[in-house]
Parts: sequence; C-alpha cells; structure tokens
Amino acid sequence: MDRALQDALNLLLEAERAGVVALDKLIAEVEHDELRNFLRGSRDMERRNAEELEALIRGNGGMPSDKTGPFAAKVAALGTIRERLALLSRGQEWAARKTEVALALAPETGPIHDYLTAMANRHRAEVEWGRAEVIRLMGAA
Ligand SMILES: [Fe+2]
Repeated sequence: MDRALQDALNLLLEAERAGVVALDKLIAEVEHDELRNFLRGSRDMERRNAEELEALIRGNGGMPSDKTGPFAAKVAALGTIRERLALLSRGQEWAARKTEVALALAPETGPIHDYLTAMANRHRAEVEWGRAEVIRLMGAA
C-alpha cells in the first residue's frame, strides 16, 4: 500500500478509536435516556468504522496503527456536556474532511475508494443529523 494512503487511513483509524473512547466517557455522564441512546448509536458506528478501517488497511497490504488519537482527551477536558457534544460534532466534520483527503490518495476504483466514499457520506450525514438531534434532545432535557 502507498505510504501516504496508509498514513491517511491510519489517521482516520486512530481518530475513530478516539471517538469510541470520547463517546464512552460521555455516555457514562449523560442522564437523558434518549440522548444517551443516540450517543450509543454514534459510539457503535465509530467502533465499526475502526474495525473496518483496520481490516481495509490490512487487507490491502498495509500496516494498521495500534494508536488512539488525541481527540478523546480534548473532549474530556471540556467542562460541560453541551461543549463536549459540540466538539464531537466538529470531530465528525473533521473526520469527513480527512476521509476526503484519504479518498484523493486512493485508487480511483476498488474497495478503498468505495469504503471511503461511504464513510465520508456517513460522516456528513451524521454531522447534519447529529446537530439537529442534539439540539432537540438538549432542549428536551
Ligand atoms: Fe467517526
């Protein structure tokens, strides 16, 4: 696997792992049932992304990173749940952009291209839907 592509995929892998850690921590602190369920759904998606990225890197001759990104500590450092939710939403935007960077380095067809296209779309959708959902749920809490 091309080195620049491997680095770009590993950056995403580390970020998705950090997302799992950040969401797990937040889920433990949120008392609102519906918001907690929403965050569990996001956490499960991050976990699936991390597993799939790892398999994609390995399956295409690359070496998956075993690290976790710095994002979880940044989320945990914030004082309120609302601030953490806002940073998580910006994190999804960051991941969508970085997925598009990786996509530009990938072959124009094939499994990496297809996976990254779907992953970019999922993150864009999650940003939009998540923002609306969090506003609604924070209003109801
Ligand atoms: Fe993500």
